Amino acid sequence: MMKSLIFFGPPGVGKGTQAKLLSKELAIPHISTGDMLRKAVSRKTELGRRAQAIMESGGLVPDDVMVGIVREELMTPGASGGFVLDGFPRTLEQATALSSLLAELGIDDYTVVNFAVDDDEVVKRLSSRLVCDTDGSIYNSLIDDLSVGSKCPRCTGRLIQRDDDREETVRKRLKVYHSTTKPLVEYYSKKGKVLNLNGVGPIAEVQRELRRLVVKEI
Ligand code: AP5
Repeated sequence: MMKSLIFFGPPGVGKGTQAKLLSKELAIPHISTGDMLRKAVSRKTELGRRAQAIMESGGLVPDDVMVGIVREELMTPGASGGFVLDGFPRTLEQATALSSLLAELGIDDYTVVNFAVDDDEVVKRLSSRLVCDTDGSIYNSLIDDLSVGSKCPRCTGRLIQRDDDREETVRKRLKVYHSTTKPLVEYYSKKGKVLNLNGVGPIAEVQRELRRLVVKEI
């Protein structure tokens, strides 16, 4: 079974949804750089203050900041038995820093799961995404019988729309993905680390396919 996983793909492809399911099943941490940044924004920390405007505009938080955050997370004992890294790396500089970090940690057996859906589907999914303001659970008004302001089915929080899920910001995020992040597929393909996953289809179907790819014995 592969337990050091990097979930890669455009915004809204379903990385967070699948990462939450798989990390729970495999009892490994879900390390989401987006979730960490949103937490920092809501706590109004120094990092949050720096990141907020960048995130709302659909741009990327500077590499040195992101590499520092991920280094700290991967160095914790909780990550020593494997992890699902979601949202990192997004630039070549982040990818090379991650390669050094994994080498330092003695982790060679890692896999990049490359999720794919087309841009129209991304816009559709993100304009209907709902997230819990308390536990970060992800829903969709086209799938779940929920809307902005509904009570979270898993906790006492309320469902909100993310600030960066407005259509114009989603288009900008997609542009950044295609110009800066997508080329990393080649970086990892050359290392023989990429498994491609079709992100189209019901969540349970994508989950089955993901398990087939990474949980080999099932
Ligand atoms: P981040 O939070 O990482 O955003 P993202 O990569 O754009 O990914 P999303 O969270 O939007 O989508 P997802 O793929 O997780 O989809 P989800 O499962 O929610 O980053 C946010 C920002 O932080 C960045 O823009 C940047 O500013 C900054 N940042 C973060 N990391 C950074 C880094 N490394 N460097 C620099 N800056 C960084 O699903 C989406 C919706 O679709 C949901 O409603 C879900 O219910 C639904 N859905 C899921 N699967 C399916 C399915 N199979 N069929 C139909 N609907 C589905």
